Amino acid sequence: MGAPFVLPRAASLEDPLRIAVLISGGGSGLDALLRFQSEVPRCHRTVLVLADREDAAGIHHGLSRGIHSKGISIPDGFPKSESRIEHERLIQDELESSGTELVVLSGYMRILTPWFVGKWKGRLVNIHPSLLPDFPGPHPHREVLSDGVSITGCTVHLVDEGVDSGPILAQSTVPVFPDDDESSLQERVKKAEHVLYPEILELLCSGGVSL
Ligand code: GRF
Repeated sequence: MGAPFVLPRAASLEDPLRIAVLISGGGSGLDALLRFQSEVPRCHRTVLVLADREDAAGIHHGLSRGIHSKGISIPDGFPKSESRIEHERLIQDELESSGTELVVLSGYMRILTPWFVGKWKGRLVNIHPSLLPDFPGPHPHREVLSDGVSITGCTVHLVDEGVDSGPILAQSTVPVFPDDDESSLQERVKKAEHVLYPEILELLCSGGVSL
């Protein structure tokens, strides 16, 4: 429930959608997306990279390509209950001043408030490293291994007010091998993410998704 989903405009190669990518860590997904965008003309281009930590290693993927990229930490001086929304206000300011049209979460490890989701609903996309609705939350690979399933994967979905719960746009499957640990499984799933996410963003940005 809550706000309705409003999808992005149908963009074109001549007038690509302006994307902001939000990360928290190494940014291998961001790097894959930027490579995809630089191969040939696409319906989207990255105009902003934001991290929730100033020392997030992945920021360099944006900086090295001349994209406005910065870390915005949780601001000090607010009660805990307010610091989250103050943080999102700072992010929102950057999104507005960059003319962002679509927000792409790529390894962004914060749960967004209904206030922020409401501003971007339908234009806020996430990739989660499991076959949702199975294994939502922060430790999908650990749970996949402890459950003993033989197939996992990744899911691209629109973000709603829940956790890993919005409408699913696409999934890709990945085998689980008997000798996998969390790290080997994560690396295999990431490879699938790096193929799936840019392709589905291209579909979304060209007007090929309907709800
Ligand atoms: C990805 O597996 C993403 O799905 C998950 O965290 C990982 C981020 O990796 N939420 P990276 O920062 O893109 O390398």
